[in-house]
Amino acid sequence: MIPLKEATAEKHKQAERMPFNIRMFRGQLGKEEYFLYLVQQAEIFKVIEDIGTPHKGLDRLASVQADIQELNTAGFPQEDVLESTKAYSQYLSKLNAEQVLPHVYLNYLAIMFGGQMMKKAVPSTGRMYDFENMQEALQAVRRVQKDEWADEVNKGFDYLIAIFDELEKVTVSQ
Ligand code: HEM
Repeated sequence: MIPLKEATAEKHKQAERMPFNIRMFRGQLGKEEYFLYLVQQAEIFKVIEDIGTPHKGLDRLASVQADIQELNTAGFPQEDVLESTKAYSQYLSKLNAEQVLPHVYLNYLAIMFGGQMMKKAVPSTGRMYDFENMQEALQAVRRVQKDEWADEVNKGFDYLIAIFDELEKVTVSQ
């Protein structure tokens, strides 16, 4: 069987190259744009963490909310959850603790890998990228990870690509 990372590499490349993601990575997002991105992250983390993750050290909702609060108190209004994010959160909300694991792999390893580079590039303290014990949290995912998850992880990538697409559309039209 093809290793999971290899079987999802094409979609990873596609997600990585989304214009909104490129702007984030290059440090080109304004505070309001990054705020909108965090609102979408918070929605995804909330649904997943309500179902449950394999390690408490993975959970991001509290730290994302702190990052949102920081930008909020800097004078930004509460933004709505985008339609593409609602579609993903509705899909996630129907999964049980085992079925949600491929999405834990996708969304939490995304923050861990490249996270330290992102942290430097975003207009925020970036608490979302700080893990108390990253190795332990990572191992909790590695222990349950299966190559059979490829289709489900790729489906998750499609949802996230749609979110990056909508983020770019709504921010460039502002
Ligand atoms: C600027 C954008 C991004 C960069 C630069 C980036 C970079 C990386 C790097 C360097 C790795 C480690 C690869 C390795 O172990 O050799 C990685 C892994 C990973 N990334 Fe990204 N990434 C980006 C965006 C994303 C996005 C948007 C997602 C999904 C939401 C994502 C999901 C993942 C996952 C799940 C892994 C773990 C793969 C594994 O080891 O099994 N990444 N990324």
